[in-house]
Parts: sequence; C-alpha cells; structure tokens
Amino acid sequence: MHTRNMNENPRTGRSFQAPPSRLPQVGTTIFTVMSALAQSCGAINLGQGFPDFEPDPALLDAVTRSMHQGHNQYPPMAGVPALREALADKIESLYGQRYDPGEEITITAGATQALLTAVLSVVHPGDEVLVLTPAYDSYLPAIELAGGVPRCVALNADFGPDWVALAAALGPRTRAMILNSPHNPSGRVWSAQDLQRLGELLAPTDVVLISDEVYEHMVYDGRAHASAASQPLLAQRSLVVSSFGKTYHATGWKVGMVAAPRALSAEFRKVHQFNVFTVNTPMQWALADYLRNHPQAHLQLPTFYQARRDHFRAGLQGTGLRLLPCEGTYFQCVDYASISDLPEAEFCSWLTRRHKVAAIPIGAFEPVPDQRRRVARFCFAKREQTLDAALQRLQEL
Ligand SMILES: Cc1ncc(COP(=O)(O)O)c(C=O)c1O
Repeated sequence: MHTRNMNENPRTGRSFQAPPSRLPQVGTTIFTVMSALAQSCGAINLGQGFPDFEPDPALLDAVTRSMHQGHNQYPPMAGVPALREALADKIESLYGQRYDPGEEITITAGATQALLTAVLSVVHPGDEVLVLTPAYDSYLPAIELAGGVPRCVALNADFGPDWVALAAALGPRTRAMILNSPHNPSGRVWSAQDLQRLGELLAPTDVVLISDEVYEHMVYDGRAHASAASQPLLAQRSLVVSSFGKTYHATGWKVGMVAAPRALSAEFRKVHQFNVFTVNTPMQWALADYLRNHPQAHLQLPTFYQARRDHFRAGLQGTGLRLLPCEGTYFQCVDYASISDLPEAEFCSWLTRRHKVAAIPIGAFEPVPDQRRRVARFCFAKREQTLDAALQRLQEL
C-alpha cells in the first residue's frame, strides 16, 4: 500500500510548517535521558527519583476496594471531599494552620500539575517570578508558558538562601516566588527561622509564594519540616504544594494537592478545571481511606528513609566521593572533584557507562550549569539490595 507523506499538503504540495516552539530551550528531561542510558547500559538507576519498592499493601487494597465500590466516575472538581477533609486535619495537626477543605484544598494530578496550574493562575505576561537555583526542572518552563519572566537567584555554595541576592532580585515586577524545601536536588532543608526571614522579606509586598513541599515527610536527624503553612506571614500568600506519590511510595499515581487561602484557591481552581478538571477517583478514595485508617504512616518516613540515607552514606565513606549534607529528601549529593575533573553531565554519563551506576548532574537543575562545580545526585529511595549493589560498584571509585 502507498503511504502518504503526512507532512505534505495534498493541495499545495508544500510541507506543513510547525509553529515556533513555545519552549525553545527545552529538550528531553535529564531524568528521561539518564534512565534510558541506565537501561541501555544495564546500570543501576540511582538517577531518577522514585522508589524501587511497593506502597503499603493496605493502600493497594484500598484502591481495589474503591473501584469495586463504584468510585469510578468523575469526582468533584476540587477532589473527593473525604480526602480534602483528611488533609485539612493532617495539615492542621502538623503545621497549626486550618484550611477549609471546601474552598482551600484542591487535589491535583501530582505536584507537577499543581505547580504549573499555580503559576498559570497567578502569573501574567511580563511578570517576574523568583526561582532559587538549582531548581526542580518544571519551574522555568511553567513560568515561560505563562508568559512570565524567570528571575533566577543562585543559592549559596552550600545550597542555603543568599538573602542579599534574594532581596536584590525582589522588585516591582515580582509577582511570585517558587520555594522548594526540602530541596531537590541538594537535600537542604529550610529552618523555621529561614521561613520567618522570608516572611519578613515578602511582608511589604504582594508577592505570591508557591511552596513546593513534596518532600515534607523526609526530614532527618530530628529536624521538623518548616511549612509555609505554619508561618503566618507566608501562609496568607502561599500556595502550598505536596505529592502523595512521594509520601506513599506511589510516584506513578500522580496525585498531589494544593492548600491555599480562599482567594488564591479560587484562582487556582479556575485554571485547574480547564487543565485537568478532576483527578482519578479511586486513588483519591483510597488515599482518603488510608489517611483515616493509617494516620501515623507518614510519621514513619523520617526513620525509614534516614536508615537508607545512613546506609548509603556509610557505604560511600572511603571512596573518592565527598558526601554533602543530606538534611532531607531522598537524594544524596556527592562532590567528585577528587576523582574526576569531568564536567557534571559528562561525569554522570561516564559513571553510568563505566561503573554502571546512574546519577544526575546538578547542573541539569540550572539554566546555565556552573562549570566549576563537580557535584552529582544519587537517589537512595531503593531497596537495600539495590543500594548494596550500587555501593559495591561505587566503592571501585
Ligand atoms: C521538587 C519536586 N517537585 C515536584 C515534583 C513532582 O511531583 P509529582 O510526581 O507529584 O508530580 C518532584 C518529583 O520529583 C520534585 O522533586
């Protein structure tokens, strides 16, 4: 059979010209690239951030049950009420802030959609948005899609806030700021004092804070997560984002949430309803059920992940990889300068091909990678046997 050339216009014979890209700088994400490389090389994938173990069987059973109970059609636009109520209670008990489940909590298709929708709902063309770099890779494209102007402010060498640079970047065109703590990729955690200071900085302004707190339950060594929800100066201006995928070892479910005061939530929902409208029903019922019946589950995460972090760190002692602090998240960063002078992307590619362990270059989280730094990120949300196999290979370094 003759196959037509789809690109050719049968009337004019001319090739169809696709419109100019809305995101000309964007290619395939580093996570996809490194995961594909890891697979093709037979490498252990400590690059992309996802667990290689399963969620609690009780949660899986709850999904099956909710499907059989008939929770298979569209839920309310903002999410299943029982889930929003359970979240309102959880947030209040953890952070001392009560959000109205009816109007101030919205269930999203993962944190990624929550972040994009948050940006689209507050950023007008030409508005500036402060982003602290290195930053999670969805922030800059989200701002660009909204017609906003990203204003990148580099974190300090230890990935802490640079208050002078931040204050200098704040101006009359600043509409919003995106904060991420615990921080991917560095594992750095902002303290309550840091948030207080940010609150003071933003207090004279109407800047909206989009607070990405997807790793809120992965904070170690007795620290407590400081949420924007718990700071009165910030809560009034914040859209607080979290992800059930991170907390319940189910990243593929893509269910997240946003908590924000009424006016911000109303604008968020205007965009949300035409963005996804609703999020899959049985997962929401299952999560509501699980939150009610296992209210302690998230409280076990610090112990659970700290043990993995410590195991991984202990295994890297004595290698040429210098361990950077990991206060939270499931990422461990290492400085590899003593064993290689390759730039970060090349080093990660070399490590994957040569030593069969995939990592992510920190420069992938910056618009312009820092050419002098030599830091790579490993994900330790893995079974002990996976970590041990990776450690055995890394110990050759
Ligand atoms: C900082 C940060 N924000 C957002 C997300 C996206 O979360 P979700 O999978 O729920 O969309 C991730 C996932 O890796 C992340 O690390």
